[in-house]
This record gives sequence, structure tokens and C-alpha cells, in this order.
Amino acid sequence: MIMSDSAIGIFDSGLGGLTAVKQLEKVLPNENIIYFGDTARVPYGSRSQQTIVRYAEQDASFLLSKGVKMIIAACGTVSSVAADLGNVLPVPFTGVVEPTAQAAVNATKNGVIGVIGTSATVSSKSYKKAILAKDKKFKVYQQECPLFVSLVENGFISEEDKIVQLIVERYLEKLKNIKIDTLILGCTHFPIIAKAIQNYLGDEVTLIDSGRETAIYAANMLKQKNLLNKSTEKGEAVYYVSDTVEDFRKTAQIFLGQNDIEDVYHITL
Ligand code: DGL
Repeated sequence: MIMSDSAIGIFDSGLGGLTAVKQLEKVLPNENIIYFGDTARVPYGSRSQQTIVRYAEQDASFLLSKGVKMIIAACGTVSSVAADLGNVLPVPFTGVVEPTAQAAVNATKNGVIGVIGTSATVSSKSYKKAILAKDKKFKVYQQECPLFVSLVENGFISEEDKIVQLIVERYLEKLKNIKIDTLILGCTHFPIIAKAIQNYLGDEVTLIDSGRETAIYAANMLKQKNLLNKSTEKGEAVYYVSDTVEDFRKTAQIFLGQNDIEDVYHITL
């Protein structure tokens, strides 16, 4: 039986899933969260489908071993390439593609939507297919941005950093010229450098944060299934990573705006 006072499990290849954690803590402050970042094997986005599926299954198994009541694959790559994972799990599951595609469709005014993601996500065309399944009238343009993941994992996240600005410009120039009015940040790492992306594209482009949209979607799922935690105490987040704890903690603290992330533990899968 799934218990409503169990934690919500969230996983990603690294820091990206924190974009979902940040939003979840806002919309469901009483929930406990168990996060797993597979930092020893990041990036996932340049690997084969077979490898990504295997990693995703191992990540989900780890969270299940902690007794979570739901699993969120807060990773665009896993959600695109290993979308069937939810069919074999004993708890509710969501990836990021559907909630994010829906938010982009709601936001666009001119119907021209850009999608950026890892190489695996862009090859899968997952967001494009999800948007066109809603209505064929949309124009969807994709761009892979694999170096964004390395920037974030290595702590290059400031919009003032010249390296960040240069790589943003190189990757997004074409989308800017096409005059998209909405951009899906289809990899959960990307919202961590959203300020640099927004500065380059200008305020007229709406950025859709896949981690944020998925957290809102997951909160609704839990509500519908009557699985929200009834406790009125503030929830706690515990983080597990497969590589060193220190680098993860440092960037997580900057991104989440907290100075005191104590509960970060190393595990080997
Ligand atoms: N955060 C991930 C995603 O949303 C994975 C990045 C990677 O590991 O390549 O795609």
C-alpha cells in the first residue's frame, strides 16, 4: 500500500532535477523529498537509448528502496528516451515532456516554439511530437545544447560569466533569428542558467522551465490520488549523489538559495 506520508522521489543525472525540487517546495511545502542525482554518470544526454534506459531503471529502483510514494523523472533525457519506465513502477510516475509541452502550448501567441535539450532528447523529437499531437498548426524548432549540462555541473551558472554568455549565443542564435516567442528549456539543467538565456533572447520570449512545470503537474497527480501528506510540519529534503558530495552541495545551495543543505549523502549504485 502506498502511504501518503512517504516522501516524493525525484531523480536526474545530476543537478538538473533541483529545478523541480525548488518548485515542489513552493507548491507542497509539507512534503518530504528524496532526491537522487547520478553525478558519477552525468551526462546522460550523449549516451545510447539502451544505456539511458538502464540508468533510469537503476535510479528508480534506488528511490523505491527508500519507500517513496511517487517518482518524478526530472530529466528531459530520461523522459524522452525511457518514457515507458512508468509502466513497470508500483508507484505513480511522471516525466517532464507532457507537462512542459502543455505549458508551452498555453504560453505561445505566435505559435512558433523553440525546444532546447540534450542530443538524445532532440533526436527523440519528444517535445515536438507532444506539441504537434495537441495541434498540427504549431511550428516547432529544436536545438541541441549539450554543453549547457557541463556548464551547470561545473558551477558555471552566472549570467555575468563570459563563457556562459558565449555558449548561450552560439547555441541560440538560430532560434532567435526564427523569432520564436516561447522556448522550452527541455533539459532540467537549463533553467539553472535561465537568466543568461533570457538576457540573450530578450523579454519577449517566454521560457518554459521543464522542472517547474513537472513539479506542478506532479502535485496535481498526488492530489487526485489522495496521496498528499497530511502533516502540517515543513517537509525535509534529503539528497543522494553517486559522485562527490561537495560540488553538488555548493551549486545546489546557490541555485536553491539555501546556505544549509546538510543532508547530502554519497551512494554507489
Ligand atoms: N537534466 C537532464 C535532462 O533533463 C540530463 C542532462 C544530461 O545528463 O545530459 O535532459
